[in-house]
Amino acid sequence: MNIAHGNVSRILVFGSMWIILASLWVIYWPSQVSFRPVVRYFPKPFGDVADPFVPPPGVAATRDPIFPTTRRFRGPITRPKNKISGVIQRPHGFPEDYGQDKPGNAGAGSNIFPAIAKAAGRIKEKISFGESISEDEKRRPWRYPVKVDRTQLGTEKATLLMLARNDDLYAVRESMRRLEDRFNHKFRYPWTFMNDEPFTEEFIAITTGIASGKTEYVRVPKEHWGFPSWVNQTHAKLQMKKMADEHIIYGGSLSYRHMCRFFSGFFFRQPVMQQYEWYWRVEPGVNFYCDQHYDPFRWLRENGKSYGFTVTLHDFRETIASLWETTERFFYENPEYVDPNNMRGFVIENTTRNGEPYVDYNTCHFWTNFEIGKVSLWTSEKYLRYFDYLDKTGNFFYERWGDAPVHSVALTHMWDKKEIHFFNDIGYEHSPFRRCPQAHEHGNAGRCLCPLDMSLVDNNGFSCFEQWKKTFGDNYEVDLTW
Ligand SMILES: *[C@@H]1O[C@H](CO)[C@@H](O)[C@H](O)[C@H]1NC(C)=O
Ligand SMILES: *[C@@H]1O[C@H](CO)[C@@H](O)[C@H](O)[C@H]1NC(C)=O
Repeated sequence: MNIAHGNVSRILVFGSMWIILASLWVIYWPSQVSFRPVVRYFPKPFGDVADPFVPPPGVAATRDPIFPTTRRFRGPITRPKNKISGVIQRPHGFPEDYGQDKPGNAGAGSNIFPAIAKAAGRIKEKISFGESISEDEKRRPWRYPVKVDRTQLGTEKATLLMLARNDDLYAVRESMRRLEDRFNHKFRYPWTFMNDEPFTEEFIAITTGIASGKTEYVRVPKEHWGFPSWVNQTHAKLQMKKMADEHIIYGGSLSYRHMCRFFSGFFFRQPVMQQYEWYWRVEPGVNFYCDQHYDPFRWLRENGKSYGFTVTLHDFRETIASLWETTERFFYENPEYVDPNNMRGFVIENTTRNGEPYVDYNTCHFWTNFEIGKVSLWTSEKYLRYFDYLDKTGNFFYERWGDAPVHSVALTHMWDKKEIHFFNDIGYEHSPFRRCPQAHEHGNAGRCLCPLDMSLVDNNGFSCFEQWKKTFGDNYEVDLTW
């Protein structure tokens, strides 16, 4: 009886303990389970423009307890209409002015996603504390950044070069992720970042996290990003105000002018560039539509080229009012710099001035936000003299000379046209223009995926593609063997 009584109370005590534990678990459980089937990534009409961390409108994002840099979507998933329009959609939840040239907007991944900043801290930790793998990492590798072997595989002394502000971080990540996926993970060329301000630790950690090769961060010195002594700043400001009033694109922007002057005359003077023969200029927020299955640096070198472009456009005449006159004067004074096999024909047009025939600049230029070139083009004596000649006029500030027409006019006069290469096989987007390879074997049937409604800049009036074909005839595109 006593024994039986003891058993009953033991059963009661243990039984109720289990019931209490079970009910605590039932209360606790839902907060721990992520209902993963509700996470969906919808196809975006223009590739991976939108950030997958951003939930659709009207759906609250909650922090994922397992991996805080991803978010799970709770609540109803409304499938957005797959709108096909000519406009690139702003990622959900981004400010109206996303992507516009204003400080403090847009790209700022960190402001929008504190979780990314946290992850950056972790990546930084990994980068600085090396290779020891913790028990937790072995158990849950998905919580940790991938171990990166940054040994370069490409054969050339080359770098991917990006001028960026800390605020551009989101757009920088877009460009890097895409170029790494399409190209660089196969070659692991190093990235070089330049900025007139110090890069934040967060910027460094996150960009290094995306890069497959090593990364370097350069602060541009003040003398390369400011008014030179001979420029009358009062006059420059008046001119800027005037151009802004006339709604000339970037007419009122001083930083845009510094940027143009920097790419015209100074990026190649940064000591970091001395270790490289080649650079590929990359801008924040660009897209590449095609798998890049060969090394363009190596191809250019082996084929005796010095410069490659993929988009060529007309410029806004108002921004370069006196560039041509200045250039003509320079070559009149220094005829020895003009290459006998130049491609001046690509940049001139026959007009009249004061009733007289006049050879003017047709404003065609290589769109330099994409360029793959030899550093030595710009460190050559002839180019440096040309740049100085232009710079002394102050018209990088009084007007708004772009680095694209400056590079292009120099290239088309001072180099053999055989050294300049049109990368027809590269599909590229830099808002507002995009292009896809023209020849069908490179295009949608092959290794490219271009938007369905793609309007090609090559086919519209902005483009100088027709001019290029005219200049080179049937040989406008080098026949690559596939
Ligand atoms: C600078 O420009 C202003 C405005 O155009 C002009 O009034 C002034 O005389 C200029 N200064 C010099 C030193 O040329
Ligand atoms: C401009 O005129 C010259 C002389 O008439 C001619 O040789 C040249 O082909 C013309 N160039 C263009 C771009 O029309």
